[in-house]
Amino acid sequence: MSGITVTKTYLHIGAKKPTRLLHITDSHVCRAYESEGEKLVNLAKKRADRCFGGEDNIEKYFEEAVRYGKKNDDLIVYTGDIYDFISQSNFDYMAKALKLKNYIYAAGNHDFCTAPGADKEDYEFKMRQLKIVSPYIKSNLLFDSRLINGINLVTMDNSYYQFTTGQLDMLKAEAAKGYPILLFIHNPFYSKEIAEDKMSKGDCAYVVCPPEELLTRYPKDRADYQRATDETNDTLRFILDCEEIQAIFAGHLHENYENRIFEKKMQYVTAGTFTSDAREIFID
Ligand SMILES: [Fe+2]
Repeated sequence: MSGITVTKTYLHIGAKKPTRLLHITDSHVCRAYESEGEKLVNLAKKRADRCFGGEDNIEKYFEEAVRYGKKNDDLIVYTGDIYDFISQSNFDYMAKALKLKNYIYAAGNHDFCTAPGADKEDYEFKMRQLKIVSPYIKSNLLFDSRLINGINLVTMDNSYYQFTTGQLDMLKAEAAKGYPILLFIHNPFYSKEIAEDKMSKGDCAYVVCPPEELLTRYPKDRADYQRATDETNDTLRFILDCEEIQAIFAGHLHENYENRIFEKKMQYVTAGTFTSDAREIFID
């Protein structure tokens, strides 16, 4: 069996010493204990087989990626959707894996999910789910930061396509520290390349801050859900203009993309580990 495919990204942004990060995203582990009920067990099997190549495949690549990070990298950065839906079995499996290596974690939409497609994904729901999930992930899922060798790694939740004013204020405070920042989010920002590729394969692009022209090509419910709020547009503007922010890393799309967004910042989107992918970031 072949191993994981590690895409390498090199950044020369003034680290105090050479630093290596492993970016792991969208593993979509689909576990459920028998004791959690037939419905959840069936959901786990159906999702794993239909969407992610089966549970053996999911776990083989995920574990291999974590092992690679443990051996080769200073820190693992997870950008969400490590499991597909909330279950005790998924929590227990993930918590064991997370213990193997220091990490920081940005939330994905599935991290709050009870069953794909079944939840009313709004802010109130997310806040309720956050209390259930947080004991198992030792990172602040809404906003976190970690200084490593003079580089500030910042994670922000945008898993429902939006940022809040509170997150923007915290990002401004991180920028004021003056260190070079790498920003990790789950949902990537719009780029023309991503949009055209995704629209050729489906009915929407699953990106943050899609232009109005693009939204006219989405089904109405998806356009309404994915259209950026004023707070989200303000956050994008700050990110684009902020000198400290050196690059953006995201997941969610299950494919690799590397584009400059709005002609200003590089955005690296990493495919899910269930397709065998991970990204290693070399910083000096
Ligand atoms: Fe996602």
